[in-house]
Amino acid sequence: MYTNTRTGVILFKKINDLNKWLDAQRKKGLHVGFVPTMGALHPGHLSLIHTSKAENNVTVCSIFVNPAQFNDPGDFEKYPVTIEQDIALLEEAGCNVLFLPSVAEIYPMGLLHLRHFDLSYLETILEGKYRPGHFQGVCLVVDRLLDIVNPNKIYLGQKDYQQCMVITRMIILTGKEGKIKVRICPTLREADGLAMSSRNMRLNEKERKSAAGIYQCLLQIKKNLSKGNLEKIKEKAVSRLIHSGFRPDYAEIADAENLNIVHEWNGKQPLVAVIAAFLNDIRLIDNLQLTGEIS
Ligand code: PAF
Repeated sequence: MYTNTRTGVILFKKINDLNKWLDAQRKKGLHVGFVPTMGALHPGHLSLIHTSKAENNVTVCSIFVNPAQFNDPGDFEKYPVTIEQDIALLEEAGCNVLFLPSVAEIYPMGLLHLRHFDLSYLETILEGKYRPGHFQGVCLVVDRLLDIVNPNKIYLGQKDYQQCMVITRMIILTGKEGKIKVRICPTLREADGLAMSSRNMRLNEKERKSAAGIYQCLLQIKKNLSKGNLEKIKEKAVSRLIHSGFRPDYAEIADAENLNIVHEWNGKQPLVAVIAAFLNDIRLIDNLQLTGEIS
């Protein structure tokens, strides 16, 4: 029915087996927390597991490198896979269940003619603009995983700021709001400020040294922030990124609540700075809340 890995985390590969096990837990009145991932786990993921464990009786982590959300096939092929290490880390973190489905299990009808989600402007700005189709793929898989796991809470990292908004919208669109609470947890950073990310594993030594430049740039935006027109601050950020060896997709300042791009700041609107930039062929993203609570 299920494989008990040598590490003690219960591993499920089949939806039916996971459903049966979870039904039994729910019958006991236990609360389920869910951490969806694409593997190559790092301390950022593990902090989500820890938060879920503190707030629920059972924590389920999924590892599924979702082909539907990669707009760049090269990025999909190079996405790091470290499953043995991931299982060891989940065990150390005390995660109860690992769901490790195949592509056929998640997409039994294949990847064509899949459901479309009305994400409105969230799909046309920032990550939506530069990674066409990406958020449709994210919604597809997270909706499917939520139907399978049916958790009380889902845990997401704030590093993927726009993804958090998209998933929150998808949950409303699919009528899951009220049944599943979205918990957004702070970004974890390396000592030099680089946001933890699975893609960091692909950086070579030289790239790794440069990568913290994104966080430096976010800090500079925050330092330079003042009421009025914001375009000069954004231009400076783009120049700084280019000077540090990045190929930026964008360095923007947006409304922290809805991600609308802000050009003129009234001094009150909550703001977030968002950056996406390539170091050679590795695309990194990060963000920093400029007003209110700092991430
Ligand atoms: O952030 C990620 O790792 C992925 O986009 C997610 C939420 C696991 C969906 O595949």
